[in-house]
Amino acid sequence: MRSFVTEYFDNKPLDGLRRVITPDWSDKNTRYHLSLLGVPERAKRILEIGCGLGRLLIPLYDRGAQHAVGVDASLSMILEGQRLIGERNIDLVHCDGSGLIPLDRDGYFDFAFAIITFQHIPDTETVKRYLSEAHRLLRPGGQLSFQVLSHDAKPGRELWTYHDLIALREHLVNLGFSGKWQEGNIWAIYQGVKNRIAASPRKKTQKKKPAKKRGSTGRPKTG
Ligand SMILES: C[S@@+](CC[C@H](N)C(=O)[O-])C[C@H]1O[C@@H](n2cnc3c(N)ncnc32)[C@H](O)[C@@H]1O
Repeated sequence: MRSFVTEYFDNKPLDGLRRVITPDWSDKNTRYHLSLLGVPERAKRILEIGCGLGRLLIPLYDRGAQHAVGVDASLSMILEGQRLIGERNIDLVHCDGSGLIPLDRDGYFDFAFAIITFQHIPDTETVKRYLSEAHRLLRPGGQLSFQVLSHDAKPGRELWTYHDLIALREHLVNLGFSGKWQEGNIWAIYQGVKNRIAASPRKKTQKKKPAKKRGSTGRPKTG
């Protein structure tokens, strides 16, 4: 059976692969997308979820990173991306989000991001799993930035999926991210940091005991 990714993102010549990523493959558009992510200045280790051909990962790495990793569900993107990466210290890893990201590097990355990727993932559980994995792989204080559609702008459009922002917000807080959303007409962008202190499981609220009767002084009555 041909999957969604195979259908849309695989098996095209380079120009075709570029077109499904973005019709505007210009430096200006690349700079604009990077500016939306609020990339931290000293990001030495970078992770991208849904990296495609490395359109953003390669220029980010060239700003002075030591190591970058991109994960993507399309083997065609990965193979072509590897060619474009050349000798850079960038690894591309095949992953479709149905399980964990196959990286044994907990707390390794300074910056993790995803852009024009989650809107192509049909189920919110996979997106949540990717956010959990970003949390595992980021160091405490590391930054997560990602984009989703801000509302169901074009319902029924095959390539676009809207994810419930309230569910994502709650998931991020429970994981232990502190951050902010910027919601535009079409896109919502999240920028947050992994808390340095791990999120503790919510305490059950105890029923309040009835207050003891107090005397006229306000002190508890004694024998
Ligand atoms: C529109 S492209 C964006 C690529 C890159 N983020 C960029 O901006 O240049 C979307 C990418 O997401 C990938 N993708 C789709 N579903 C995915 C999944 N479940 N897990 C990982 N990558 C996925 C596609 O293969 C494709 O390379």
